[in-house]
Amino acid sequence: MKIILASDHAGLELRQALVGLLQEKGVSFQDVGPTTSESVDYPDFAKKVARAVAAGEYTLGVLVCGTGIGMSIVANKYRGIRAALCSTEFEARMAREHNDANILCLGQRVLGAGVAKGILEAFLATPFAGGKHARRVQMIREAESER
Ligand code: RB5
Repeated sequence: MKIILASDHAGLELRQALVGLLQEKGVSFQDVGPTTSESVDYPDFAKKVARAVAAGEYTLGVLVCGTGIGMSIVANKYRGIRAALCSTEFEARMAREHNDANILCLGQRVLGAGVAKGILEAFLATPFAGGKHARRVQMIREAESER
């Protein structure tokens, strides 16, 4: 498993906390910034992660902004991306199990670091269930082709 993470300035500290968790767990990852708290535009960072996950370079992505909303909107514009904005471990499990979500979006202004770490752990630990859910994910792909 190989993870790619990014944030904007409003998600920097939470992203760094999540990097610490991945290091503790020995999960392979690439952190693509930003490295300072200077104001940046979240679409630039969502684009980096969405393109890399869509290209198959990483198993899963993580995007953090103030709310997680902007990141999720941008990431979901990319073909093959199923980005899930989660604020509970239950949502994270369902996003993987039912939706085969491949990017987790989190809001630093919404969640404490402890809760967010639990959400990320649930996201990484939960496999896609397949079966009827695979049919539905295929229907998402078909919807993409109508764009
Ligand atoms: C930045 O102020 C903020 O707009 C951004 O982090 C995010 O919450 C957007 O959805």
